[in-house]
Formats: sequence, structure tokens, C-alpha cells
Amino acid sequence: MQRVLSGIQPSGSLTIGNYLGAIRQFVELQHTADCYFCVVDLHALTVPQDPRVLRQKTLEVANLYLASGIDPQLATIFVQSHVPAHAELAWLLQCMTYYGELGRMTQFKEKAGGKETVTAGLYTYPVLMAADILLYQTDLVPVGEDQKQHVELTRDIAQRFNNRFGPALVVPEPMIQKVGARIMALDDPLHKMSKSTDNPESAIFMLDSPDAIRRKIKHAVTDSGREVRYDPENKPAISNLMEIYSLCAGEPLEAVADRYNGRGYGDFKKDLAEVVINRLAPLQARYRELAESGEVLNILSAGAAKAAAVANATLAVVQEKMGLVRAAARL
Ligand code: AMP
Ligand code: TRP
Repeated sequence: MQRVLSGIQPSGSLTIGNYLGAIRQFVELQHTADCYFCVVDLHALTVPQDPRVLRQKTLEVANLYLASGIDPQLATIFVQSHVPAHAELAWLLQCMTYYGELGRMTQFKEKAGGKETVTAGLYTYPVLMAADILLYQTDLVPVGEDQKQHVELTRDIAQRFNNRFGPALVVPEPMIQKVGARIMALDDPLHKMSKSTDNPESAIFMLDSPDAIRRKIKHAVTDSGREVRYDPENKPAISNLMEIYSLCAGEPLEAVADRYNGRGYGDFKKDLAEVVINRLAPLQARYRELAESGEVLNILSAGAAKAAAVANATLAVVQEKMGLVRAAARL
């Protein structure tokens, strides 16, 4: 059985970009692969977080995994910081990653650009992600398009380790969908929809109310002309909205294009809002039940125990290969 691992940062409220680009794939993969889904709280710390909000968002992401249909009987759900091996392996791998490699990461350049102060953690962030992946001997990493470069760096680090110390780490493959891998912002179809946006109108959040969804879609920018046609190059805004429609309704893009052929943007947007609301409604209802029950804490604690057993085995091999004297027992 193939091993799958992915993670989402609790650095804000999850968007339908997270849902359509990542979580939707997680839900499918759990039936055919041995899956680990992580709430990567250590990654969130690379930029300033309010401790109270970080705690709340960590549980929110875990509950959204469950509400989206990830079943703890089928997949392992856990919080990154509950498994100390992640931070430990990240250090060891930092000593095998080059300064220049990290400087070339486009996400770092975007996040650091224009900032007066940038933490060392933001710079080394991709190595922590490599540790997340390599600890589980992961075959497949389902992510959105923006994470491809980080998975490629992970592959380079794993290959470098294996060449230098002998085979120890599985070299993972990114798994990126054809449609939905990059959902764009509602106010700017040239930028990805992001949970850490300054403008909450630019994103549809998984927990947005129906009214908020209707308002945001109504005000979403469109392209010149009035034709509903899928053409990402010349009509990036409407093509993005059509992708959202297609994924939320579970209908091929061509069917969406046919239905709105000859009708204007207004009609299309009105229906799109209802399609998104209907897709999110059952998930939001489950979320509310889960949040109230507090059940997630038990699920996360069982998940961490299961994850740690796998992670510690890999960490021990890496430590031994790199020349660390094994302690008599893990404290
Ligand atoms: P993040 O929000 O950066 O923690 O991302 C968590 C997962 O969601 C990663 O696999 C991202 O690639 C994916 N993701 C985030 N934003 C989008 C988006 N706008 N479109 C598609 N996938 C996304
Ligand atoms: N860096 C990823 C993001 O921002 C989140 C992440 C952390 C991740 N560790 C991971 C994704 C491991 C996949 C596998 O989206």
C-alpha cells in the first residue's frame, strides 16, 4: 500500500482553495493508501501568531479534516508538534541542505519580499516540510501547485541523504490535480486564493455563511466581454470561477461551459454561489457538531501515538547513519 502524507498550516481560516486543491484529494486517497494528515502548527510559527488564535485554529483545521470526510479509522490525523521527531529530523536535514537552495524557493521570496524582518524559520521552512514527508517514508504528497517546488527540494534532500549514507529514505512524488490545483483570489485572478490574506473578500472560507458566499461571489472580479467561456489565458477570472463551479458541482468543465453558453456573468455567478453553498453546507453542519463534542482531542492523541511510532523508526535510522550515538532509551 502506498504511503501518503500531507499537511495544512493553522495560520488562518481554511479557504475553498485548501478544500478543492488539497483536502478533497485527501478524502479520496484514504480509501486506497496509508494516509497521514498533519496540522502543521510548527510551520505556522514561521510568521507571528497570536498564541490563543493559533491554538484555536489548530483544532479548527483538525475538525475541518474530519468534517470534510477524513475518517480516523482509515487515515491518521495528528498535530505536527505532538510528534517531536519532526523538529529533530528537520535539524538533521538542515545540515544537509544548502543555503542557496533555500534562497531559491519562490514561496520564501514571496513571503519575505518587502518585509523588514524575516525569521530564520521562514527561511528553513521547506526543510521542516521535507522532514514531515521523509519521516513517514512517503510515496505520494497530495498538494496544490504552490507546493511543488518544496516537494522537489524534499526529493533532492532524500536523494542526497541516500547517496551519502546509503538507502534510508523513500523519495516522494508530488501529486497535483489537473483542475483545482491553483484556485485564484476573487479580487485578483493572477494571485492564488490565500488564507493569510489582508482582504477577507478575496477568499471564500470553508466556514463562510451563505450570505457571505453570495456577497463575495457577486463582487468577484470578471473579465472583459460577457461570455462564460473557459480560457485561463484570456479569461482568467471567469475560468477560475468555472473551476470552482465544476469542482463543487462535480461536473466536468465542458458541461458548465455548455450550460452557460449564451448567458451572462450575472446568471452564472448567482448559480455558482448556490453550488458552493450546497457543497459546503453538510460539511459545515458536521463541523459544528464536531467542534461542540470536543472529540477531536482524543482523535489527535491516538493519531500522534500512531504517527510517532512510524516517525521515530525513521529518525533512529537517520541518526545512526549520520553518526549520532543512540541514547539507551528515548526520553
Ligand atoms: P496552506 O494554506 O499553505 O497551508 O496550504 C495547504 C494546502 O492547500 C497545500 O497543499 C496547498 O498547496 C493547498 N492550497 C492552498 N491554497 C490553495 C489554492 N488557492 N488553490 C489550490 N490549492 C491551494
Ligand atoms: N508547506 C505546506 C503549505 O504551506 C504545508 C506543509 C507542511 C505540507 N508540511 C507538509 C504539505 C508536508 C505537504 C506535506 O501548504
